[in-house]
Amino acid sequence: MTEHRRPIIAGNWKMHKTVAEAKALAEAVRRGMEAIGGVDVVLCPPFTSLAAVSSAISGSKVALGAQDMYWEAEGAFTGEVSTGMLMDAGCKYVIVGHSERRSSFGETNEGVRRKSAAALSAGLCPIVCVGETLEEREKGIAHDVVREHFVGAVEGKSAEDVRKIVFAYEPVWAIGTGKTATDEQAQEMHAFLRGLMEESYDLDTALGTRIQYGGSVKPDNVAGLMTREDIDGALIGGASLKADVFLEILTRVAG
Ligand code: PGA
Repeated sequence: MTEHRRPIIAGNWKMHKTVAEAKALAEAVRRGMEAIGGVDVVLCPPFTSLAAVSSAISGSKVALGAQDMYWEAEGAFTGEVSTGMLMDAGCKYVIVGHSERRSSFGETNEGVRRKSAAALSAGLCPIVCVGETLEEREKGIAHDVVREHFVGAVEGKSAEDVRKIVFAYEPVWAIGTGKTATDEQAQEMHAFLRGLMEESYDLDTALGTRIQYGGSVKPDNVAGLMTREDIDGALIGGASLKADVFLEILTRVAG
């Protein structure tokens, strides 16, 4: 983390929480955040709870995000949700290209490119996820995969647009497994990503774009990760589902 990039912590609730549970969790995070500063916080509940969470955090520092979207504005796309609908529900962020979408729902680099472009033109901030599987890391192609995910996502985008994106490096082998990447492994890939930004754009873009780490982030490992130069925040699954655990993470990042 460096001083000119404000830390950003996002909670990805995945397919968890009823509307009532989501509302209670959002209210608890909102209350906890009254005493915490210096960090951007985003809650990403399932679509069904967006409106309830939006009203629970209204007027606070906590922002709302969605977990996915479709790039068309409207039409016959059963099951899909557009950027306009997300904005209408109060979203400022949207996760795009999460590894679970890539592995279980056929998300492609091309889809990530189109979704992130549509999000940016609507004024939503995309959180674009990149990251290799265990098999890819063991084969020694982790960097090639991350490069493909990055290049696939930014193709055709201006430097100005890329700076508005929040990237999330999430090694698939660390998601939900309790196996966090070491601070060193995470920092190394974050520096590689920043190098790709400089190569594709310029140094200002590389230095001005935030990169989160994701994969089994918890209260006891977040501070170590955040001391690393190129780690600007975290995308958190399991540890975002309980208010006290999530607030403990936020306290450690702010502190
Ligand atoms: P986890 O999930 O924190 O439960 O590992 C992270 C993510 O998938 O975004």
